[in-house]
Amino acid sequence: MLVLKNVTKRFGGIIATKDISMKLKPGSINAIIGPNCAGKTTLFNLITGKIKSDTGHIFIKNKNITGLSEVEITHLGIARAFQITNIFPTFTVKESIMAAILAKYNGLHNVWLRFKSHPVQEESENVAKLTGLEKVLNIRGEELSHGDQKLLDIALALAMKPKILLLDEPTAGMGSEERWKMINKVKELWKKTKMTLVFIEHDMDIVFDVAQKVFVLQQGKILAEGLPKEIRKNQSVIDAYLGGGQKR
Ligand SMILES: Nc1ncnc2c1ncn2[C@@H]1O[C@H](COP(=O)(O)OP(=O)(O)OP(=O)(O)O)[C@@H](O)[C@H]1O
Ligand SMILES: [Mg+2]
Repeated sequence: MLVLKNVTKRFGGIIATKDISMKLKPGSINAIIGPNCAGKTTLFNLITGKIKSDTGHIFIKNKNITGLSEVEITHLGIARAFQITNIFPTFTVKESIMAAILAKYNGLHNVWLRFKSHPVQEESENVAKLTGLEKVLNIRGEELSHGDQKLLDIALALAMKPKILLLDEPTAGMGSEERWKMINKVKELWKKTKMTLVFIEHDMDIVFDVAQKVFVLQQGKILAEGLPKEIRKNQSVIDAYLGGGQKR
């Protein structure tokens, strides 16, 4: 579904990702782990076209997307939610999702007001239901709880009807109970939509419980990849990451 071949990105003297190759199976749920500054967010920025790689190639379903713009890549079916939530603070949940849907259809951001009976209304409610936000449809983004703001960011990505969804630390800033609630919602929506999903996560219990495949990044390189049970006992992963220096 998604293939990276030898992708490298430098920022001045820093090599943020180095020679990264990976393959994701259609419909799979995958985790990326690694210490701070390992290059995890940079990898998402490269896949979504937010930044361009220096070398290497990225493919969706055998189509080379290297060098395409963010908009072109979104239209090819990749959407993402951000490490720092990216919502419209003064729009209600429903308005925000409608705006995201309309932006996908025609790139217009302000027309939703004119579409009182447009199918986008129903579609936005369906997207809200997928993320469990149907109870807060008329609440403004800025008034939502932290967890619901993260869910709204995911809902905005889902409004694009992606085939591949990238979630950058969906449980960031949450207590243990809230984290599990969030990841269970993510798992539920993955099952319902059959998308290919990749999430970045620091909580190892969550990673090992939810992911089918785990990629471990360290200093911009893939240190290991495999099934959770393989990663759990991989000595270089234990030494570099699981043994100490875990963020939370
Ligand atoms: N736009 C940029 N300009 C310069 N340096 C950058 C930029 N983006 C990332 N970097 C650097 O690239 C490296 C990897 O950063 P990245 O944000 O990808 O790490 P991360 O694994 O997501 O870390 P965290 O767990 O803290 O979110 C870091 O050294 C960071 O400072
Ligand atoms: Mg990051």
